[in-house]
Amino acid sequence: MTADPLLAVRGLTKTYYGLTAVDDLTFAVAAGTIVGLIGPNGSGKSTTIDCISGFQRPDVGRWFLRGTELTGRPAHAHARAGVARTFQTVRAYETLTLLDNLRLAVQEHDGVTWWQSLARSVSWRDAEAEATARAHELLGVVGLTNYAGAPAEILSYGQRKLLTIAASMMARPALVVLDEPVAGVNPTMIRRVEEVIRRVNAEGVTLLIVEHNVDFIMRLCGHVIVLDAGKKLAEGEPAEVRGDPRVLAAYLGRGRASREAARRD
Ligand SMILES: Nc1ncnc2c1ncn2[C@@H]1O[C@H](COP(=O)(O)OP(=O)(O)O)[C@@H](O)[C@H]1O
Ligand SMILES: [Mg+2]
Repeated sequence: MTADPLLAVRGLTKTYYGLTAVDDLTFAVAAGTIVGLIGPNGSGKSTTIDCISGFQRPDVGRWFLRGTELTGRPAHAHARAGVARTFQTVRAYETLTLLDNLRLAVQEHDGVTWWQSLARSVSWRDAEAEATARAHELLGVVGLTNYAGAPAEILSYGQRKLLTIAASMMARPALVVLDEPVAGVNPTMIRRVEEVIRRVNAEGVTLLIVEHNVDFIMRLCGHVIVLDAGKKLAEGEPAEVRGDPRVLAAYLGRGRASREAARRD
């Protein structure tokens, strides 16, 4: 990691009714990288990104984007500072067109509704034209141009995931945080999502990706952080992390991993 990361998280702790979901977690995301956050179910991945995008309030911890503290700020303040995200459950306006779904996304990111913004802005036509151009560009990136005028409800599950990634990109964020972008997505579409993430990254966007699909993360990420029971178990390059006996233990069960570790000694 560089000395001056895009995102720096220090000592993040979040408890739910006495259960420690995230436990004194410190990590950094370097600008321009794709970082993977993996770990078994319930290890605190979603809670971590909920906190650092302003959707949950941690008990302890501080975080900074390009050195600016965002600790305790609401979600829209994070969005305005340049943090965008998607959710594990796909959220789309079913009856609205893909184009309108994207145009609404940029308004939500500003923390005001579409209509509030229209009423307030003197040059709303310009703002709308800009949003429309960006939406078309992003539909091209995710390969959904043909469906621009179709309602979101006609999309397959994988296509919806692509739409939410496009939506997260509308406000030209510095950091995009994706929660399980390929969960439940078929192998062909997984490749498509992977391609889209690489394209987005090539445009200079930094990505933090939470995923259950370890192979996907290992192919895509230069740096991987492994959580177990809310704590950082390991981090490093994919090859390093993959061979770590503690990681094997978390994923495969203690018995098998200790046998693996014994074999290495
Ligand atoms: N809103 C919540 N209320 C109570 N417990 C929660 C809530 N969200 C998550 N948890 C608990 O916190 C732990 C971590 O959950 P989560 O961050 O969703 O893990 P992951 O995303 O790695 O599967 C789990 O034990 C989960 O049951
Ligand atoms: Mg989760």
